Amino acid sequence: MKTYKNLTKKQNELMNIAKGGLRRINILHGSVRSGKTWISLVLWCVWIRNMPRDKAYIMTAKTLTTLKRNCLDLVEILAGKKNFRYSISKKEGVLYGRKIYLEGVSDSGAESKIRGMTLQGAYCDEITLFNEEFFNMLLSRLSEPGAKLFGTTNPDNPNHWFKVNYIDRKDELDFFMMEFLIDDNTFLDKRYVEQLKKEYTGVFYRRFILGEWCSAEGLVYPMFSKDEHIIGCPPESVGAEYYISIDYGTLNPCSMGLWQLDNETAVRIKESYYSGRQEKRQLTDEEYYERLEALAEGYDIKCVVIDPSAASFIATIRRHGRFAVRRANNAVLDGIRITGTLLESGRLKICDGCTDTIREFGTYSWDENSSEDRVVKEFDHAMDDIRYFCATIAAKRLLG
Ligand SMILES: Nc1ncnc2c1ncn2[C@@H]1O[C@H](COP(=O)(O)OP(=O)(O)OP(=O)(O)O)[C@@H](O)[C@H]1O
Ligand SMILES: [Mg+2]
Repeated sequence: MKTYKNLTKKQNELMNIAKGGLRRINILHGSVRSGKTWISLVLWCVWIRNMPRDKAYIMTAKTLTTLKRNCLDLVEILAGKKNFRYSISKKEGVLYGRKIYLEGVSDSGAESKIRGMTLQGAYCDEITLFNEEFFNMLLSRLSEPGAKLFGTTNPDNPNHWFKVNYIDRKDELDFFMMEFLIDDNTFLDKRYVEQLKKEYTGVFYRRFILGEWCSAEGLVYPMFSKDEHIIGCPPESVGAEYYISIDYGTLNPCSMGLWQLDNETAVRIKESYYSGRQEKRQLTDEEYYERLEALAEGYDIKCVVIDPSAASFIATIRRHGRFAVRRANNAVLDGIRITGTLLESGRLKICDGCTDTIREFGTYSWDENSSEDRVVKEFDHAMDDIRYFCATIAAKRLLG
């Protein structure tokens, strides 16, 4: 076995297997930061240099922006600027004299663009973020003799199309895969790895640290504990900012939370929770606005973070001209992961008057009947406004 000093043991293993052991589909999966992207791009560069110049190749990621950030910048370092030139606006590059198309899977027109191509090679960054149709189409375009696909991914739900239709059928397919774990990456600083391990909790820990393809089950926030997270009143704070987060509903409950945020913690001081269905009367946007003003009374609110779909209420808040409004980041899984991290590290606290939040923390669960990662859409209104606040505001100050 040949050993390259500038590679990890696992990466070396892969490079040795690759001499003759590559298949039509070649996948590296496993934990975050485990060295998959790095070695897959080394492999891609080495492979391409030995392939015909007059054939077409493609590199893809969820978007062109992520492709650049995760892959192209690194290829530039690995191959050197003289061997790799590219233009994002033209969506093309040249690597060792071979033409490379660049595509973002979720960018409009991507699928129709590749429909007519005949490809020798494809590189896919973070495959589980692709849609299945695009991936199938890409494979069908790899029609030149000896054509190959290289890809990396973190694990996801075991019902994910890529797990069911490819990984689980690997023995039937011309398929090679290798698992990488975070501890395989000896280039990372040990303290950074310890820190990273603390940042993932529950299902996210199992997937992104342990590398397991596992379902999301049980409570969404099993780490929430009355002793750890509920406090009597917010701590004295110098330099704190105040925010309000809102999950808007007319018939469904509308949940609003008032937050104190400093460099140490985010504290939900109090809340306003109104269920049109339970009270048998829907409130108008003006009435909700009155509740918002009442919640804000005595605080200098930096901004109101709100459910991006609440167009009419956003317009009402803006019309009054008192609060700055920010549309919330509504990526559910990311928001849940961030909220879980803040709870686990003790940086998210709830004052004991927020009884609707406390009740929802006790029941908010993953939907075990769903084949995807989905929460039970019930009693999740305070959970949603908390997620908006954590993902849109608190993460930047508390997680860097
Ligand atoms: N052979 C190497 N030499 C130097 N640094 C490396 C090497 N392999 C990995 N690294 C370092 O480890 C970091 C993580 O590696 P990489 O991005 O390949 O991980 P990954 O498994 O693709 O992670 P993710 O799942 O988060 O995308 C890189 O940013 C780089 O700093
Ligand atoms: Mg990667």
